Amino acid sequence: MTGNGNARKVVGLSPTRNQSFFGRDIVSVRQFSRDDLIYITQIADEMRALVHRVGATDLLKGHILANLFYEPSTRTSSSFIAAMQRLGGSVIPIHGVQYSSVSKGESLPDTIRTLECYADVIVLRHPEVGASEVAARYATKPIISAGDGVGEHPTQALLDLYTIYSELGALDGLHVAMVGDLKNGRTVHSLARLLRSYDIRMTFVAPEILRLPDALRQEVADAGRPVAETERVEDVIADADVIYVTRVQKERFEDLREYEAVKTYYEITPELMARAKSKMALMHPLPRVGEIHYDVDDDPRAAYFRQVENGLYIRMALLAAVLGKA
Ligand code: CP
Repeated sequence: MTGNGNARKVVGLSPTRNQSFFGRDIVSVRQFSRDDLIYITQIADEMRALVHRVGATDLLKGHILANLFYEPSTRTSSSFIAAMQRLGGSVIPIHGVQYSSVSKGESLPDTIRTLECYADVIVLRHPEVGASEVAARYATKPIISAGDGVGEHPTQALLDLYTIYSELGALDGLHVAMVGDLKNGRTVHSLARLLRSYDIRMTFVAPEILRLPDALRQEVADAGRPVAETERVEDVIADADVIYVTRVQKERFEDLREYEAVKTYYEITPELMARAKSKMALMHPLPRVGEIHYDVDDDPRAAYFRQVENGLYIRMALLAAVLGKA
C-alpha cells in the first residue's frame, strides 16, 4: 500500500535504482523535480537511439504491463503497448471495460488488486479525477496514470516537455501559449504545472467558458511565472515560441448547446501560421477535431506527429524507470 500514492512499491528489484521513479506511482506532475525531468528525458533520448538502431531490446523481458482503460484512447494506450513490447515485456490489454468484470459492477480497487496478481505495473485511464491516486492506495505495484477525467495526464506532460526541448533546444526563456479547452483539458493542466519548474512565460487563450481553472492559474502565478490571458489567438501568434492547441472536449459538457457554441472557436490555418515565428513549435496532444487545419501539417513547425512519436520514448523510459531497469 502506498498511502499517498507515491511511496515505493514492491517490484522485486534492487532498491539502488533512481529513487524518484523505481517502484513509484506516476499520478501527478507535482511529484517531479527538475532533476527528475532531466533524468527521464535523458533515458528517453537513449530509448530513441535504441529504437532507431535496433528497434527493440529485452530489458523488460519477463515483465508484464496491465493496460487498463476506462475511457477511449489511441495514442496513450498504443504507445504504452508499443513501449512495453519494444522493451521485451508483455501486455494485458483491457481497453473496453464493458468486456471486463467492470461491467458486472466490480470496483476499481478490486480490479486493481486483481490485475496486480498478474502484472508488474498498471497503466490506468479513468474518467474520475483522482482515480489514479485511489488505485495507487490499493496497489502494491506501480500505477501510472494515463489520464484521470479533467484532472491530470502526467505522461502526456512529460512527452510535451520532451517535445518542446527537442524542437527548440531550450525551455527557459520561452513563451508558451495554450489554446482551446483549458477548463477540461487535462493535458493542459499537467503541462502548465510542469512548466512552473522553468523560466517560462505562459499565455492562456480560451473563450470565457473554457478558461483555465482559477486555482491552477494561481498555482502558476504563485511559482513566480508570468501569466496572461486572452480570448484571441491573434494576440499571441507572432510572439509565442510554442502554440499548444487543444480540442474542445465534447464529452465533458453537460449542456451540448454550450459545446456547439465554442466547438469551432479556434482554427490554426496556414494564413495564421504565416504570422508566427520562423522558429517555433505548433503542438497538439491529439486527437484534433478541426483546431488545426490539415494544410498546416506540412509546415516544418507542425510538431504534433513528432510529439506522438516522442510519447513512445518517454513511456519506454518511464516503464524502465519504475521497474528499476533504467
Ligand atoms: N493525447 C492523448 O491522450 O491521446 P489519446 O486520448 O488518444 O490517448
